Amino acid sequence: MNSAPPGKVNFPALWQHVTSAVAHRPWSLHGPDHWRRVERNGRLLAPRCGADVTVVRLFALFHDARRENEGHDRGHGRRGGDYARELRAGWLPITDDQFELLHFACVWHTDAHQHDDPTIGACWDADRLDLGRVGVIPSPEYMSTAFGREIAEHGTLFPWEKELLTFTEE
Ligand SMILES: [Fe+2]
Ligand SMILES: [Fe+2]
Repeated sequence: MNSAPPGKVNFPALWQHVTSAVAHRPWSLHGPDHWRRVERNGRLLAPRCGADVTVVRLFALFHDARRENEGHDRGHGRRGGDYARELRAGWLPITDDQFELLHFACVWHTDAHQHDDPTIGACWDADRLDLGRVGVIPSPEYMSTAFGREIAEHGTLFPWEKELLTFTEE
């Protein structure tokens, strides 16, 4: 149940709600463990890119939440964005502009590589930086943000490990 104060997303309760309704195998390559890593990447990226961290965290949760299979699964980004729209009234106290960014990032994350908007760019870089799980090395040339490129060139998040450990679920 959502019991967050007005204007604040209750991330722990929202994660519980979305993961309990997950349509595919939770241990899948595109399931909640992947979403958590995307969220972690996004929280590292957002302050350095001028991105909206709330939108980036919501993207992490929704972008693959409506996958139906482990293949290309055409349309899964739009389904994820539309799922966020379904939950918006009860769970997402964000502005229309924030929602449009979230929906766009979800819809197009499968088909587009880069975007100049810092929030959309941080969403896509956060997702792409987790490509190692499927045996693909994240390439700097496909990153949208300068910091995403820096991480990809580094080849590991280890230099930022201390900061990653400060992220809480809230
Ligand atoms: Fe996806
Ligand atoms: Fe993903």
